[in-house]
Amino acid sequence: MRESDVGVYGLGAMGEGFALNLASKGLRVSVYNRTAERTREFVSRHVKEDQIKPTYSVEEFVKSLDRPRRIFVFVKAGPAVDEVLSSLLPHLENGDVIVDCGNSHFRDSDRRHGELGSKSIEFVGMGVSGGYEGALRGPSLMAGGSIRGYSELEGVLRDIAAKFQGDPCAGYFGPGGGGHLVKTVHNGIEYALMGAVAETYHLLKAALRLGNDELSDLFRDWSRGELSSFLVEATAEVLAYREGGEELLEKVLDVAEQKGTGIWTSQLSLELGVSAPSIDEAVHYRFVSAMKDLRSKYSRHSCALTSGGKLDREEVIESAKRSLYLSHLSSYLQGLTLLYESSKHLRYGFDPSEAFRVWRAGCIIRSRIVERAYSAFRSSEGERPEQFLEEFSGDFRSGMVYWRNFVVLAVQLGVPVPVTSSALNWFNSITSRWIAANVVQALRDYFGRHGFYRVDRPGTFTSNWGRGV
Ligand code: 6PG
Repeated sequence: MRESDVGVYGLGAMGEGFALNLASKGLRVSVYNRTAERTREFVSRHVKEDQIKPTYSVEEFVKSLDRPRRIFVFVKAGPAVDEVLSSLLPHLENGDVIVDCGNSHFRDSDRRHGELGSKSIEFVGMGVSGGYEGALRGPSLMAGGSIRGYSELEGVLRDIAAKFQGDPCAGYFGPGGGGHLVKTVHNGIEYALMGAVAETYHLLKAALRLGNDELSDLFRDWSRGELSSFLVEATAEVLAYREGGEELLEKVLDVAEQKGTGIWTSQLSLELGVSAPSIDEAVHYRFVSAMKDLRSKYSRHSCALTSGGKLDREEVIESAKRSLYLSHLSSYLQGLTLLYESSKHLRYGFDPSEAFRVWRAGCIIRSRIVERAYSAFRSSEGERPEQFLEEFSGDFRSGMVYWRNFVVLAVQLGVPVPVTSSALNWFNSITSRWIAANVVQALRDYFGRHGFYRVDRPGTFTSNWGRGV
C-alpha cells in the first residue's frame, strides 16, 4: 500500500478537522491518537475517507509516512508537546518535519526548534486559528521555525488554508517561535475584541434595557458595516440563540476562562515595555469574572445605578456602535505595535503586515478592519503602526465624541468597561505630545534622587526640591 503524504498526531477537535481538511485536498493522511479508542471512533465516523489511514502505535504511524515525513501535532500546549516529540524522535530520520499546531508559548518553540535542529529534525511551530470549523474548512496559519521544514510544507499549507480572494492565509514568521508569537498576539487581540463586545452588550442592557433579540439585531446590523467581523457576527448569533425556547446566553455563568495566550501577550508587552493595556484589561476582566464568589459577596457594596434615567435611545446606540468600532481599532493597533516591536527586538524579523495578510480569512479576528489595514500597508511605505493610524485617523476623529460619551455613560451608571476605557485612554496617551510623566519623574527624584532630564538643557539632573537635605 502506498505511504501517506502527511501525518496527524492527536485527534481532538482541531486534529480531527485538520486531518479531514488535508484528506479533502487529496492527500493521504495517517492519523494517530494516544488512546486507540479515539482513533477507532474517528475512523468509524469517516469510513468513506479512503484517504485516511488509522495507525495504532507511534512506530506504525511514523513508518506509514512518505519521506521526508511531515507530521502535524495537535496536543495540549505544554509538557504534552515535549512528551510527544520525545516519543516520535527515535523513529524519525534526518530532514523529517514536525509541526506543533497547538497554542504553544513562543519561547517553547524557540527551544524546540534549537533542540530538534541539533538532531537534524526540522521543527515548525504553527499557530492555527479558526477553531474546529476553521481547521476543517480552512484555517489561518501562522508558521515559524525551520525554514527548510516550512518549505517542505508550504504547498500543503497553501492548499488547506482559508483563502482571501484566492490568496491563501498561511505565512512564515521567522525562526523558532515566530509563528507562535504571532498567534499569541492574535489571541491577545481576540481577548480585547471580545471584552469590548461584552462591555457594549452590558451597557446597552443596563442603560436601555434592550433584550437579546433587539441586541442581536443591532449586532447583525453593525456586522454589515465597518464593524464587519467574525466576532460581531458571532455575537449576533449567540444573542439570538434559543435552546428549548429559552435564551441560552442568559443561562451561561458569567465566569470567563482562559488557557494562557492572553496572559502571555500581556507578559510580552510588559517584558518589551510596549503598552497594550486593552489586552491586559481583557485578561483582568476574565480574572475578575472568575472571582465570582467574591463578587457576589461584595455586591452589597455596589454603587452601580439600576436605571439609566432618561436617555436618547438612538444616541446611546450610535455611541455604542462607534465606541465598539474605535475600541476594536485601538486594540488592533496595540497588538500591531506589539508585533512590530517583538519582531524587531526578539529578532524574528517578520513584517507585521504579513500577520494582517493571513488574518484576512479563517481566523477569529478576521474583519473589515484587518482587510483595510492590509490594503493600506500594501499601498504605502512606512512603519506599520503609523500607517495603521494614518489610515484610520479620520475614523478616530469622527467617532471620538461617541467613544467618549459611551465611556462617560458607563462610568455614570457604574457599568464596568475596562477594555473600552483603556482603549480610549491608550489612544489619548499615545497621541499626546506631552503627558504628565514629568510629575512622576520629579517625585522619583524628590524621594529617591533618581535624577531627571530637562527639556531646556542636555544631561541628567537632580534637585533637593527646596527641602534642604
Ligand atoms: C483561534 C482561537 C483558539 C482558541 C483560543 C481560546 O484562533 O482559533 O484563538 O486558539 O479559541 O485558544 O483561548 P482561551 O481559552 O484562552 O480563551
